[in-house]
Amino acid sequence: MSKGSPHSWYLSMSARYGDIASVRLGSNLVVCISSTKILRELFNRFESTGRPQTPLNALMGGLGIVLSEDILWKRQRYFLHDKFRALGVNLWKNQRLEKIIMAEIEELLRNLEKRAEEPVDPVMVLGRHLHNVICQLMMSFRFEEGNEEFVIFNERLSRSMNLYGSIHIGEHLPCYLKLPGKKTVLKEIRRSLQDISQFHAKHIEKRLKKRADLSGKEEQNDLLDYYLEQMQNEETGAAQAIFNNVDPVKQIVQVMNDLFSAGMETSRTTIVWLLLMMLREPKVAQKVMDDLSNVVEVGKIVTMEHRSKLPYVEAVIYETLRRVSVVPLGTTHVNTKEWEINGYSIPAGTHIVPLINKINMDPKYFYEPEKFLPERFLKNGVLCIPECFIPFGVGRRICLGMHLARIELFLFFTNIMNNYKFTLADGQELPGLEGTFGATHSPRPYTLIFKQLQLK
Ligand code: HEM
Repeated sequence: MSKGSPHSWYLSMSARYGDIASVRLGSNLVVCISSTKILRELFNRFESTGRPQTPLNALMGGLGIVLSEDILWKRQRYFLHDKFRALGVNLWKNQRLEKIIMAEIEELLRNLEKRAEEPVDPVMVLGRHLHNVICQLMMSFRFEEGNEEFVIFNERLSRSMNLYGSIHIGEHLPCYLKLPGKKTVLKEIRRSLQDISQFHAKHIEKRLKKRADLSGKEEQNDLLDYYLEQMQNEETGAAQAIFNNVDPVKQIVQVMNDLFSAGMETSRTTIVWLLLMMLREPKVAQKVMDDLSNVVEVGKIVTMEHRSKLPYVEAVIYETLRRVSVVPLGTTHVNTKEWEINGYSIPAGTHIVPLINKINMDPKYFYEPEKFLPERFLKNGVLCIPECFIPFGVGRRICLGMHLARIELFLFFTNIMNNYKFTLADGQELPGLEGTFGATHSPRPYTLIFKQLQLK
């Protein structure tokens, strides 16, 4: 980890001062917490749900779900939770969600077949399929192969996530963002955001027109329909209840932007790490393949019905999330009231950073944390997730897409493993576990050669 990154300062501070460590950065007091017990206690309080008012967060205008606060956030959270359930995200098995994900996986497998024997960048090949899952839930739309707009978004999103890491200090020292190079970075992030917002706004416009043509005979097929129904439902005050006086279209656009970024990059990065782990840990890879072949014929499709019979495979997914900490610092919270905890006073308005990466590598929680041991997530052969393990955060703002992510990780990973053998393309060194730190922790780029496994 580069010495100057916030990740490394926070880790060294907490190594020195313990589970609750504070530092003043510019005008902000930052408290890093590296105990799940304390995080659980604090983040379950409603007054932990604030977000920092910083120059980067200001780009989102306090709208959406990830960076909104107070009543607007609370209402989006309930609304989205409820509608995710209605669309089948929490309740397996739901025909529609299953069809959406399976269609993407089948296309991914066909694409890999077409590209057999040529170097494939897993970041590029997975992005469109994972994004299509969220896009279908949001607005019943999918990007076809080769769609230019998607290629541009995909690149911009990955780049913005990495650029975010490079100007993170500007969150605390706004003058830093005025330095020539940093100003350009901020401009680039702003431009990407505008392009993505415009894309979503266009979809809303089209859908409004379609709804007007249907005049009252619309069905609720996706999140956009659910939102527009609220927006247009003036009589019952539903619009006010959800949008809390903000511009509804802008709010819907930002929710879509948030799901676009929170929903794709994280799952994709985890799968790219998983594939790398299989190269680094050939014995684990062999066990995954053996377990899979005991449950599903090699070369056949793995479905959610197989999940309960594959605890080791799920343990590999959790161990990967632990070992590399895909979202190392969660998302910063702000307390809206003063807190007393373990004899410390934390004034209202403090930036509270959950050190998920520290917890994941703490020998107090995980025996020999440097080692990749999926067995630590199994008890008598049954999947067992320790309370201290919080890759999706904890408390009231715990990841909204956790269930969807778990389904995606399982289905994409198992289907690749049950259908393809892969090796690093010629001439590359096996990347280490030290990747690039931005909003997520992603592996160094690598390419793979996929070879289809033959049906027995
Ligand atoms: C491996 C995949 C994923 C990981 C590791 C992950 C992790 C996280 C973490 C650590 C947070 C911060 C929680 C906090 O503020 O304390 C978060 C928030 C969030 N995640 Fe995920 N996430 C993943 C996938 C997804 C997916 C697929 C979606 C799509 C719906 C999603 C949507 C969100 C949203 C909307 C929030 C903000 C919630 C709020 O502020 O109320 N995530 N995620």
